[in-house]
Amino acid sequence: MNGQIDGKRDFLTIWDLSKDEIENLIKRALELKSGADKNKCPLIGKSIGLFFEKPSTRTRVSFEVGIYQLGGQSIYLNPREIQLGRGESIADTARVLSRYLNGIILRTYAHSSVEEFASHATVPVINGLSDFHHPCQALADLMTIMEKKGRLKGIRLAYIGDGNNVANSLIESAARTGINITIACPEGYEPDPDVLDRARSDSSGEIIILRNPKEAAGRADVIYTDVWVSMGQEEEAEKKKSKFKNYQINSQLLQCAKNDAIVLHCLPAHRGEEITDEVMDGPNSAVFDQAENRLHTEKALLEFLIR
Ligand code: CP
Ligand code: NVA
Repeated sequence: MNGQIDGKRDFLTIWDLSKDEIENLIKRALELKSGADKNKCPLIGKSIGLFFEKPSTRTRVSFEVGIYQLGGQSIYLNPREIQLGRGESIADTARVLSRYLNGIILRTYAHSSVEEFASHATVPVINGLSDFHHPCQALADLMTIMEKKGRLKGIRLAYIGDGNNVANSLIESAARTGINITIACPEGYEPDPDVLDRARSDSSGEIIILRNPKEAAGRADVIYTDVWVSMGQEEEAEKKKSKFKNYQINSQLLQCAKNDAIVLHCLPAHRGEEITDEVMDGPNSAVFDQAENRLHTEKALLEFLIR
């Protein structure tokens, strides 16, 4: 049996890692990116499942490639092709898959599905995005900031847009690492209140929510945005596009930030909506390095979690 009940570690939100663990993972990811340990294969003989309810380009491919580079096997599980799609319970699926797999990455709609799966799985569970959190993205974001700015503590990060899963995980990451984060969003689109409460009690930096994107971008070292319409919100698309129309990262907004500010976006981008071509393809943009860093941080995470 592959079960690892004793001492298994999940990664469902950023809170599952301590500040030191996050810093070590980033250090390790930078080392892996530099080409160190090319032949180290800690996942030889191990199989990792990827169960995705939603589409993915970066998360799926970076994990599958990372697992391969670490010597392991990845198995992509489409919900329509396994018995869960015909009514088998999450609990039973988690119990059974734990007998075959050494770890599982989930992408779900409800965050409670990731929690339920993890509570019945006896192998590590990694959240590859839920409606409330995107912690793997946040690790790559932190790595990119460290790579470009040389530090995390004291960095001023402005997130312009929807208080969604990406924003929630960024806030938690900022709290863990001492980044000062300001979110500019329309009324009614704030990040999750529980995330904010916990982050505020944990953080050594500032966590500010305001309405004016220019105010948020003022003196920022990092400007970040995400799509206005997340997966599963298609019915609200027109309403959200009109609410967010003044929350675009364009050259004018970028001018409010420091001259050497970097621009981040978790991608996929809706060019012309939350970000212009000019900014996305401009000299301040680090979005493709950020996307690459998914691979390195996920390899570091797998090395750390999968035994
Ligand atoms: N950023 C991100 O998670 O991208 P995918 O949806 O393509 O995985
Ligand atoms: N907030 C976006 C992130 C995509 C990576 C979504 O959930 O669709």
